[in-house]
Amino acid sequence: MTTSSPSRLVSLVYFSRAASPLSANALHDLLRTSREKNTQRGITGMLLYSNGNFLQVIEGTDSSVTELMAKVGKDLRHHSLSRLAVRPIEKREFSDWSMAFRDISQCAEGGFSAFLKAGFNDDEFQKKSELVYRLILQFKADYSEAQDPTLIAA
Ligand SMILES: Cc1cc2nc3c(=O)[nH]c(=O)nc-3n(C[C@H](O)[C@H](O)[C@H](O)COP(=O)(O)O)c2cc1C
Repeated sequence: MTTSSPSRLVSLVYFSRAASPLSANALHDLLRTSREKNTQRGITGMLLYSNGNFLQVIEGTDSSVTELMAKVGKDLRHHSLSRLAVRPIEKREFSDWSMAFRDISQCAEGGFSAFLKAGFNDDEFQKKSELVYRLILQFKADYSEAQDPTLIAA
């Protein structure tokens, strides 16, 4: 069945660039309100931030993800938003998090250096959505285990 349905579960990934570097306070505010709203709207996912770039995965019903993206797309805190992939999913990868978060600006050492150096808006990465998704899942695995000062708890 390929028929689209507003209640099917989907996962969407996008890149964007922060309008200006976000302070810790600004990130806290963004996360606090996003988590509150995502809980109300049945959205789960993960937001990665690296040196002014965002990479976010959003999971929920087709209609709730579309609705949220309409808001996120108008948000002046970032620009150059580029959708990487929308895929139907059987189950959520981030069911435990209303929006997991990592600031990965400092973690170029851990095997992600090529990814980070290329930057999130690099054309090659947009073509390689599978690779990006695998990286996101790797960050998820790290997030689950991490005792990391860059984490802001959900
Ligand atoms: C990088 C980035 C990620 C965001 N992620 C979310 C999110 O996951 N959930 C959310 O509700 N708002 C998120 N926002 C905020 C939305 O753009 C918007 O401010 C919010 O949804 C407004 O909701 P309201 O119209 O219900 O007040 C994000 C904003 C930015 C810049």
